[in-house]
Amino acid sequence: MVRSALVLFAATVAATNLERQAGYGTTPNKPLVDSKKLQESITEDALSQKAEELEQAAYSTAQRNRVFSSEGHLNTLDFIEGYLDTVSDYYTYRRQPFEALYSQSSGNFSAGGTTYTPIIFEYSPSGSATAPLVVVANEGCSAEDYPAEVADNIALIIRGTCEFGLKSALAGAAGAVGAVIYNNAPGYISGGTLSPPPRPEGEYVPTAGISQENGTALLERLNGGEEIEGMLGVESIIENRTTYNIIADTKGGDPNNILVLGGHSDSVYAGPGINDDGSGIIGILETAIQLAAYTTNQAVRFAFWSAEEFGLLGSEYYVANLSPEENQKIRLYLNFDMIASPNFVYALYDGDGSAFNISGPPGSAEAEEFFANWFKEQGLATTETDFDGRSDYGPFLDAGIPAGGVFTGAEELKTEEEVALFGGEAGVAYDINYHQAGDNYTNLNFEAFVTNTKAIAAAVAEYSTSFDSLPPRNATAARVKARGVHAHPHEKRQRAKHIRHTHDCGKTPKVAI
Ligand SMILES: *[C@@H]1O[C@H](CO)[C@@H](O)[C@H](O)[C@H]1NC(C)=O
Ligand SMILES: *[C@@H]1O[C@H](CO)[C@@H](O)[C@H](O)[C@H]1NC(C)=O
Ligand SMILES: *[C@@H]1O[C@H](CO)[C@@H](O)[C@H](O)[C@H]1NC(C)=O
Ligand SMILES: *[C@@H]1O[C@H](CO)[C@@H](O)[C@H](O)[C@H]1NC(C)=O
Ligand SMILES: *[C@@H]1O[C@H](CO)[C@@H](O)[C@H](O)[C@H]1NC(C)=O
Ligand SMILES: *[C@@H]1O[C@H](CO)[C@@H](O)[C@H](O)[C@H]1NC(C)=O
Ligand SMILES: [Zn+2]
Repeated sequence: MVRSALVLFAATVAATNLERQAGYGTTPNKPLVDSKKLQESITEDALSQKAEELEQAAYSTAQRNRVFSSEGHLNTLDFIEGYLDTVSDYYTYRRQPFEALYSQSSGNFSAGGTTYTPIIFEYSPSGSATAPLVVVANEGCSAEDYPAEVADNIALIIRGTCEFGLKSALAGAAGAVGAVIYNNAPGYISGGTLSPPPRPEGEYVPTAGISQENGTALLERLNGGEEIEGMLGVESIIENRTTYNIIADTKGGDPNNILVLGGHSDSVYAGPGINDDGSGIIGILETAIQLAAYTTNQAVRFAFWSAEEFGLLGSEYYVANLSPEENQKIRLYLNFDMIASPNFVYALYDGDGSAFNISGPPGSAEAEEFFANWFKEQGLATTETDFDGRSDYGPFLDAGIPAGGVFTGAEELKTEEEVALFGGEAGVAYDINYHQAGDNYTNLNFEAFVTNTKAIAAAVAEYSTSFDSLPPRNATAARVKARGVHAHPHEKRQRAKHIRHTHDCGKTPKVAI
């Protein structure tokens, strides 16, 4: 169904292109990009059609997801390239292959005769253990928190402060045969990753996550002196798989001054990922298609990253393999990851650091200001989201490249103040289907989707015409920061996107903490 829809669409666009054909290649007969017209060319129908096709990319497969390296993900790459082929005189594109560590786990946990429904962390090794539970002190973030009795037993650890992977590795170093991490907020841990091994602190042990209620109940009994025998079983597939970023470049525009826009092409295992990040890739893809009617002064690059959900692996690979010269040519990176959340806010990456005290490289503040002004002109409010690198813009920041973008929110709860600004429901997650099976076509909010895609179009029109509003790139800053990228790989992989910064990292139920 995806393929036939694509063929039909390709035929329509091809006919339209014939009428304009004279201008292709050097595009002398096309007008310079016009921001208002480019924004007007973004329609709900076009976004909606692509969202349905992307849902089919997942649902036409047995797994019903688009997790990297799956059949649904390969369909996604075909979907993107199918549309790029309709504007092939305007863009060149390539697949950038790389190896990424895939992980898929399931398992079970019972203790004292009670069966629980745990989550199993990504990259948890396989194994089964039957042994007493031993309570780990504090939050289990340092080796001293692990008592000697942990050896040959199952460590019971509270979530928070440091990443899940550190806890599992420290448990392994202390000789534990398994680790169970319980939530530090009501309810279950919604999922998480240990991050790809190896890590210096130790080897991972089979690691499961349970609810706060389950954990504290066990803790009370253990603290009361009871011995509780746990049974933990984990079965994992962990293997390197080849996957691909897609990188599309305008043939026109100054190739030494490039605007890069990106979103991620993969979903989590749980569902088809149509908001996360179907919305972002469709938003930039539709803008790419519409841009083909115009000439630009600057080059524009559209990037579709793979394996974001396993720790920004595609964007990291891309940035790590940029030569210093190529790095310097990128004047700005704009990221779009979740732009149609059902209970949305318009959150701008806090490039100037005004809200979260973490600013981006020079140019990031200007990019934030551009979007702030654009939303203001539409009579729309904005808020800010932490600029700490929890989506594919992270590697760009680390490499000294200014960045920006728009985000409509994930698992955190909307506040009353935000309801006053954006409508929607207070006390409900921005995206109740975040990383769930329900993140499908019906999960999308089209008001936010259309608005944000017009914002993308406005940014493309602005920066593809001129980068005069941005400071020049600073080669010194780029080199200094780029070294940091390789120095602290695990620190980087802890990142997960969220709106409000909280120093209690355990409150972020996304990836690694
Ligand atoms: C485990 O925690 C969940 C979620 O809080 C709760 O519904 C369930 O009853 C708990 N199970 C046991 C055995 O305590
Ligand atoms: C629990 O997991 C272990 C290891 O994967 C497996 O051998 C066992 O059959 C599972 N038990 C149940 C009740 O599913
Ligand atoms: C995956 O590839 C890396 C790098 O080549 C290698 O170090 C690692 O052992 C591989 N992991 C597995 C599970 O094959
Ligand atoms: C902002 O961050 C800087 C550098 O990390 C720090 O010195 C400063 O105290 C912070 N300011 C606030 C208001 O948190
Ligand atoms: C989309 O997700 C919702 C919520 O999980 C589900 O009820 C619906 O059936 C899904 N749509 C399709 C086409 O499967
Ligand atoms: C470039 O970056 C370096 C290192 O961060 C800084 O010391 C220098 O002042 C910057 N130069 C300009 C022109 O901004
Ligand atoms: Zn995402």
